[in-house]
Amino acid sequence: MSENADPDVSAGSRSEAVARPEVVRIFDTTLRDGEQAPGIALTQPEKLEIAEQLARLNVDIIEAGFPISSPGEFDAVRQIASSVRGPVIAALARTATGDVERAAEALKGAERWRIHTFISTSDVQRESMLRMSPQQVLQAIEDNVRLAKSYTEDVEFSAQDATRTELDFLLECFRVAVTCGATTINVPDTVGYATPTEFGELVRTVREAVPDDVVISTHCHNDLGLAVANALAGIENGARQIEVAVNGIGERAGNCSLEEVAMIVRTRGEHLGVRHGLNLKEIMRTSRLVSMTTGYGVQPNKAVVGSSAFAHESGIHQHGVLANRATYEIMDPLEVGLEGNRLVLGKHSGRHAFVDALQKLGITLEDAQLNRAFARFKDLADRKITLTDHDLEAIVTEEIGSGKEDLLVLEAVQVGGGTHLAPTATVRLRRGDDLIEESAMGDGMIDAVMGALGRAVGIESRLVAFNVSSVTGGSDALGDVVVQLDVDGRRVTGRGVATDVVEASARAYLAAINRALQMQANDEPRDEGSSILAPTASCGPGRSCPMKSSRD
Ligand code: KIV
Ligand code: ZN
Repeated sequence: MSENADPDVSAGSRSEAVARPEVVRIFDTTLRDGEQAPGIALTQPEKLEIAEQLARLNVDIIEAGFPISSPGEFDAVRQIASSVRGPVIAALARTATGDVERAAEALKGAERWRIHTFISTSDVQRESMLRMSPQQVLQAIEDNVRLAKSYTEDVEFSAQDATRTELDFLLECFRVAVTCGATTINVPDTVGYATPTEFGELVRTVREAVPDDVVISTHCHNDLGLAVANALAGIENGARQIEVAVNGIGERAGNCSLEEVAMIVRTRGEHLGVRHGLNLKEIMRTSRLVSMTTGYGVQPNKAVVGSSAFAHESGIHQHGVLANRATYEIMDPLEVGLEGNRLVLGKHSGRHAFVDALQKLGITLEDAQLNRAFARFKDLADRKITLTDHDLEAIVTEEIGSGKEDLLVLEAVQVGGGTHLAPTATVRLRRGDDLIEESAMGDGMIDAVMGALGRAVGIESRLVAFNVSSVTGGSDALGDVVVQLDVDGRRVTGRGVATDVVEASARAYLAAINRALQMQANDEPRDEGSSILAPTASCGPGRSCPMKSSRD
């Protein structure tokens, strides 16, 4: 058994449970449930970067992934477990021997780690997906919580679709899990069906049914827009762990949003009688990083991290805030890290200044990545004169995302045309030592570039989504383009940053194609046609698991 049990985090300490205000643990599942959102396929370096940022944010637990789902996922969890320090590192496993063993294998390099095992308990999921009797489900829980416990003191059990599970059976499942050693019991509202009153009552019932030293956790999906409200109802009824994802990303309408829970507890903690240990100043950066790497933008009016969240438009409001911030602001934007976007580097800045600026942002790159990022910076600085913190983050995030395995590199892109001339584009790519040049006409510049790139790479794809924004304000701002492509049934996202939106579009398209090629090479599953399998599904080391894309 590992020595990873931290009484503060793993099983909830009795002494803390009686202290006021009580600690509510923040369990971040951006890299597992969040990554399950359609079209998100993070590379390993991106996952590592996010995990490091989550450690800077000081979340209590990072759920790093679902190791059995594919060899790439296993490696990513293993890498995070062996290098990210601070939070407990968790991995997901169905209540199946192979899953639990694989999770333990991936996690064993961590300072402190947790196996999070789950099974569907509602009639509809149990009968239609698992085809298991209630007795078989109880047996699977018993066997696999015990197995997980033989590897680590810190075991979490989740009853998938708890809110649609018959109450007596749900409580029975939880009692078995606790008897076999689970230290955290998670109550997922898997399909976002519960209302806050119902969910709060359920959490209270579970709280009363298990011993005090077992931590009760919530995992709320947002199908009806109630994820945060339900998590809050959970806290009010005794939950002391909240599962969240940055920017609320996740399956379908997503998960309970980290930043909203963080600021509710910060702002109303006294009323709720709870606190957390998050380093709030890292919130904005974490949100930007996750948005840039996933390609999931943040809506302007999103609470806490939206671009308008602290903007005052009406004259009356502006007047009030100028006279006294408290008139219309209940949170301090500086507290969540919304500082001015500083000008940091210009075209005369050298490598040393570049490295120094990155260090101030808490970013460290490997040598090869640093060389590429520096070359990119020089190129942009020549065109843009000054670069801000946000520009640097954008360049470096694109670099981390592209990764050293990139097969196709954009060398040049040129467009032509006009109001009465059909737009044309020519692109030049490098694949190893080969240069490929192609041209195409299109309905518009971007369409022409995509056509030329499609010819050059020789891969059929369908553009599912295209989004352009600017990294900072001003007409000289970097354009930030995110595309989502469907490549042979795989949804892939790519991001490109450049002073010219046509070039940014080409970079984004190529990043997505490279990602699809990497997924193909790693034998990662497609999004389409997969189904949730019974725990005995035949996936294991070296084989990819259809469950990965069925997503919980
Ligand atoms: O939504 C869900 O039920 C899950 C579980 C695996 C916790 O993600
Ligand atoms: Zn979930």
